[in-house]
Amino acid sequence: MSKEMAPPPSSFGKGQRGKPVVKPKDMKGTLRRLWELTQGQRQGLGWLMLLSAVASASTILSPLLIGTAVTAIDTGNPALQLLILLAALYLTDWLVRFLQQFFMAAIGQRIILHIRSTLFEKMKALPLSFFDSRQHGELMSRLTNDVDNISTTISDSLTQLMTYGFTIIGILCIMLRLSLPLTCIAFISVWLIFLLTRTITKHTRKLFAQQQQILGKLNGQVEESISGLNMVKAFGREAEMTEQFEESNARLCQVATKAQIWSGFLMPLTNVINNLNFVIVAVVSGILAAYGRISVGLISSFLLYSRQFSRPFVDIANIYNNFQTAVAGAERIFEILEEEPEPADAPDALPLTAPRGEVEFSHVTFGYQAQEPVLKDVSFRVPAGTRVAVVGSTGAGKTTLINLLTRFYDVNSGSILLDGRDLRQYRLQDLRRTFGVVLQDTALFGMSVRDNISYGNKDVLPERIRAAAKTAGADSFIRRLPQGYDTPIGENGAKLSGGERQRISIARALLKNAPIVLLDEATASLDVENETKVQGALSRLLAGKTVLVIAHRMRTVAGADHIVVLENGRVAEQGTPAELMEKGGLYRRMVELQSHSAQWQLNGNE
Ligand code: CTP
Ligand code: MG
Repeated sequence: MSKEMAPPPSSFGKGQRGKPVVKPKDMKGTLRRLWELTQGQRQGLGWLMLLSAVASASTILSPLLIGTAVTAIDTGNPALQLLILLAALYLTDWLVRFLQQFFMAAIGQRIILHIRSTLFEKMKALPLSFFDSRQHGELMSRLTNDVDNISTTISDSLTQLMTYGFTIIGILCIMLRLSLPLTCIAFISVWLIFLLTRTITKHTRKLFAQQQQILGKLNGQVEESISGLNMVKAFGREAEMTEQFEESNARLCQVATKAQIWSGFLMPLTNVINNLNFVIVAVVSGILAAYGRISVGLISSFLLYSRQFSRPFVDIANIYNNFQTAVAGAERIFEILEEEPEPADAPDALPLTAPRGEVEFSHVTFGYQAQEPVLKDVSFRVPAGTRVAVVGSTGAGKTTLINLLTRFYDVNSGSILLDGRDLRQYRLQDLRRTFGVVLQDTALFGMSVRDNISYGNKDVLPERIRAAAKTAGADSFIRRLPQGYDTPIGENGAKLSGGERQRISIARALLKNAPIVLLDEATASLDVENETKVQGALSRLLAGKTVLVIAHRMRTVAGADHIVVLENGRVAEQGTPAELMEKGGLYRRMVELQSHSAQWQLNGNE
């Protein structure tokens, strides 16, 4: 089925009338790929096809049998055998439909299982840059809604479509055999229903799309009002908030009512056409019977057939729309599957077992978008076992350095060396094991404190978790939590303060006991007193390791062996703290500015 096909009569039937249809971009290609995904389930699909044929055969045959039975009774012949056959046919029909459901549920769910795991695997393998430019909620909806759509379509529509296909062809053949003029009449009514459905749903589709859009807006308003309720109250905007909500709510009511009324027309009108058809067929066949052209049995068969004939058409229109929406969803899924994954390790990638921990940035240039470099020709060296601090104004590119070291992103030009070799020569997994990181945006998981600290370290002794927490200055507050180390901390640590979250992520990095430690504003949320304590404990514990510290507070970096000052993505100056103080450049200005403002704060507090 191609795009240039005339739009089909739209939805009709159980609660789906005129639902907005999302058109797929490349129906054929997507269907082919979907078909590839059914590999392993083909045998089951074959069975399903067979069952559909049997199911439609029973649908097709029963009116014929009834007609023959009526004729038999009419002419005084015994009809018992025919009636028993009819009962057997109905029984078979029931059994076949049950088996159909059974097969479809099993096959459909297995295909979906496969799609969902493939998609999740893929997301895991995608580079972080992929997620930067996309709305996370939208990606989640692909994993859940789009996959669900495919599942429903496969399990509902496919069986129905197969059965209807067989039924329509079968009934048409029989009707034509029974009587050509009567078939023509039945055809006209089916055509009328087809046109009517198309006209009405053209209208309702627009209305339902509008309804969906207003509903989305309303959801957004509610979400924003709840999450920002404190700001709404603080700025006294309650009245405006209510007004906006009421406006959307009223619009929604208006549009939804219209949509419902319009789609409500369809069903009764279809019935009227169907009934008219029934009457016309009855009258015409009555006349034909009066002239002895057809038998009474044929009339009853034909009337039943003409009823059954129109039904699939109405349903198929509906199924086709759902089908289109599902295929469009599948397209969004395949879009992700086609994305370039993180580059795989070269076949000759080196293992990294016991690195010395010497890091060197050599003429590194990098931009998240290639045309906008964030780091420009950055070069500095971190000898093994030393502590290097990177300072610079906000947006200078400090966090970017860490993103490159951990290979969340790769450099555009230049290179980063670890123990004298380019990072890209090592196995990625080994490389990441080399770094203990505390990121600027602490990411915690909705599990217990203990599991968060031991994240990625299975089977650690509780004493070690405790020791790490102590060094990070977290032990005392953790023990005050209701269930101590077993307290769940909520989504991304929502139940903790910013400083508490940071200390847990420091403990997590410490427990990993990696040879190189990267701290990005790791203690920025702590008060000065706590920060000093934690920094002191950290420098004792991390003595002998290579450490890269990023910090805004100059006090935090003063103990570093080497300082790199970044300015607009370039290294403005570097050297030991003493050298830089003497030089009297940017670093000295920053130090003086901060001690000045600290002085000013102290005076202000007096
Ligand atoms: N940036 C970007 N895409 C990202 C992350 C950052 O385009 N995924 C840009 C930012 O807009 C910024 C620049 O890269 O202009 C440097 O960002 P970053 O290295 O994070 O700056 P920091 O020096 O870490 O700034 P801060 O002190 O505020 O953390
Ligand atoms: Mg940063």
